[in-house]
This record gives sequence, C-alpha cells and structure tokens, in this order.
Amino acid sequence: MVIKHHFPLKEHNTFGISAFAKAYTAPASILELKEALGYYHDQDVFLLGGGSNMLLINDVQKPVIHLLLKGIEITQTGENDVYVKVMAGENWHDFVLYCIEKNFAGIENLSLIPGNVGTSPIQNIGAYGVELKDTFDSCNIIDIKTLEEKTLSLTDCKFGYRDSIFKNEAAGKYVITSVTFKLANLNKTNEYELKTSYGALQEELERLGGDLSIQKVSQAVSKIRSTKLPDPKILGNSGSFFKNPVIKKSEYEDLIRMHPEMPSYQVDEEHVKIPAGWLIDQCGFKGKRYGDAGVHDKQALVLVNHGNATGKEILEVAHKVQKAVHDRYGIKIDTEVNLIDL
Ligand code: EPU
Repeated sequence: MVIKHHFPLKEHNTFGISAFAKAYTAPASILELKEALGYYHDQDVFLLGGGSNMLLINDVQKPVIHLLLKGIEITQTGENDVYVKVMAGENWHDFVLYCIEKNFAGIENLSLIPGNVGTSPIQNIGAYGVELKDTFDSCNIIDIKTLEEKTLSLTDCKFGYRDSIFKNEAAGKYVITSVTFKLANLNKTNEYELKTSYGALQEELERLGGDLSIQKVSQAVSKIRSTKLPDPKILGNSGSFFKNPVIKKSEYEDLIRMHPEMPSYQVDEEHVKIPAGWLIDQCGFKGKRYGDAGVHDKQALVLVNHGNATGKEILEVAHKVQKAVHDRYGIKIDTEVNLIDL
C-alpha cells in the first residue's frame, strides 16, 4: 500500500480548489481497498470518488482513500434486459457512452453528469426526467469497520430526490464498491419508452430533428448541459450547488399570489418544488463575481471557481445567496454539494 503525504487534491475535485490531504492512498482493487481500510481501522477515513459533488473548505486531516476500482461486466442477460455491474471508480459519463454504444437503454438522459459510478447512488443523480434509481438494481458495499461485504437492493437504498440511505442512516458506514444496473437491451427488444417529456429536452430534440433514439437523447442532453452548465475542466464547479426546495402547498399559495411568474413542480398533494435557480436568479446573483468565487452566468444554481477561489470564499458566496433568497422569499435553500471541513 502506497501512502502519500501532503497530497494535492486540486486535480481531484471538480471545483478545482487547492487543498491537501494529510495522507492519501488510492486502492485499485477490493483487496487493496480492504488493506487500506484495515490499516486505518482506528481512524475515520475520507472516501474520494470523482470529487464532483464536494467543496473542500480546508485541507483534509482524515486519511483520504481514493477509489480507483475499474471494470464493467455484463452479469446477466434476460429476455429484454441486461444487468451490468460497474466498478465504483469508473467515470459516469464513460459508462453512459458504453451503454449507448452497446445499445443498452435507461441512462441516456443522465449523459455528461460529472463524477464516478460509485458515488452516483449517494445522491441518486438525476436529470431531464430520469433518476439513477430508475435503472438501479443493486450495489455492493464494504462495511468500513468490519470489512464485511454486502449487497444492497433498490429498496434497501431508500432513494429520494437527491437522497438515499447513504446520506442518512448509512452515512460514513460503507464504501460502495460497485453498482449493478438493469437496462433495456435494445438489441433484443424495442419495448422501451424514451423519456423526452422534460421541456428543454423536448425542444432540443425537435431542433435536432430525425428519428428518436437513445443516441439522439444523449446528444440532446449533452447539448443542453454544455450550454447551461460549465465544463469543470474549464471553469471549476460542482453542478447544482443547492437542491430545489420543497415547500408546503399553503406557503406556495401565499408566494404565488405575490410572484405569479414563479415556476414550480407539484411533488404530491401537499408539496411543491420551486427551482432554486430561479429564486437565486431573481435575487440578482446570476453572473455575480466576488474575487474568484461567483455564480455562473447561465445557470444561477451553479457556483463557480474562476481560478484561485478558496473553499471558504465559495462558501461565503453560498451563504450570501441563501440569505438573500430567505430574506426575499422566506425559503431556506439547502446545499446539494457536500461541504468538506474535516
Ligand atoms: N431558472 C432561472 N434562472 C436560472 C436557472 C433556472 O430562471 O439561472 C429557471 C428555468 O427557467 C426553469 C427552472 O428554473 O424554469 C428550472 O431550471 P432547469 O430546467 O435548468 O433545472 P434546475 O431545476 O435548475 C435541475 C437539477 C439539475 C438537472 C436539471 C435538468 C437540481 C438541484 N438540479 O436543475 O441537476 O440537470 O434539473 O433535469 O435538482 C445537478 O444536480 O448537479 C444538476 C445539474
């Protein structure tokens, strides 16, 4: 096992924050991972995946275990479905491209989401009308303390909007080592319904024209994402910094009277979701810059690092945004990104 000290994490977080790991190791197999977990059994460790959903506020004092486990394997084929097991360290978008190439359907709407497969269940990644849980079959995990290996099913994971067991009762207890997806095998069936009802996606597909296919949907999603969301290789960011707030119907009715133009989505009989991007935009933050920390000029839900912002500077912008939205609309917006202050 190779341990590196004072290891730079700038290249390993999509916000491009310059922070260091006191100790860093990068297991590339289950065996190496177990060795690292065993070695640090008496300490809390920090598990690093693609670094795409976190803000490093300080140097990381806990030992960092960077999961590099690779491999994609078809484990089972059904009449119309195929089960694909993907190791945690595989890049999410590369896996989407693999599926498109093989003609496996189900995750094309999730094209171009940054990060790794192993962290995708934690926040149940979602975009353009599809969430990870829709094709999730199971995941393999290792208990950090006992090193026991287990398999969790769809119901075990308790998925919700940007939420799962891994953000709640199982937080910090397990390492996800692989995820198995159940996908429609379009080489065998055409009984698959593309999900194209999300407004912006529908419009983009119409613009592209031609026959609908998973390839076309992936192309349209990639096009929309790259016009609205900054490429982390060019402008540091972690996608949506905040979650869209879910408010009570009664609060919504008061608000819509004062702001009739406010967009919303019905969640259930009693709850309504409001796009945080709209709230932040209305508060005048779109494109605002404070030194190197700022708000993206094409999507107000995204905070950006223009170069050398520190995690603390980004966090200050987040607090400013949260306060302004609360002062104006009485709505509390929570962060979607994990704030790492260890
Ligand atoms: N809006 C504005 N100004 C803005 C941004 C948005 O007025 O600066 C308005 C839009 O006009 C639209 C509404 O807000 O009426 C919603 O905007 P959009 O369709 O862009 O989606 P979103 O709610 O801002 C969510 C996800 C994204 C995902 C898109 C598409 C969350 C927190 N974010 O964004 O996820 O790509 O829907 O499905 O749920 C991510 O999680 O990192 C992410 C990018």
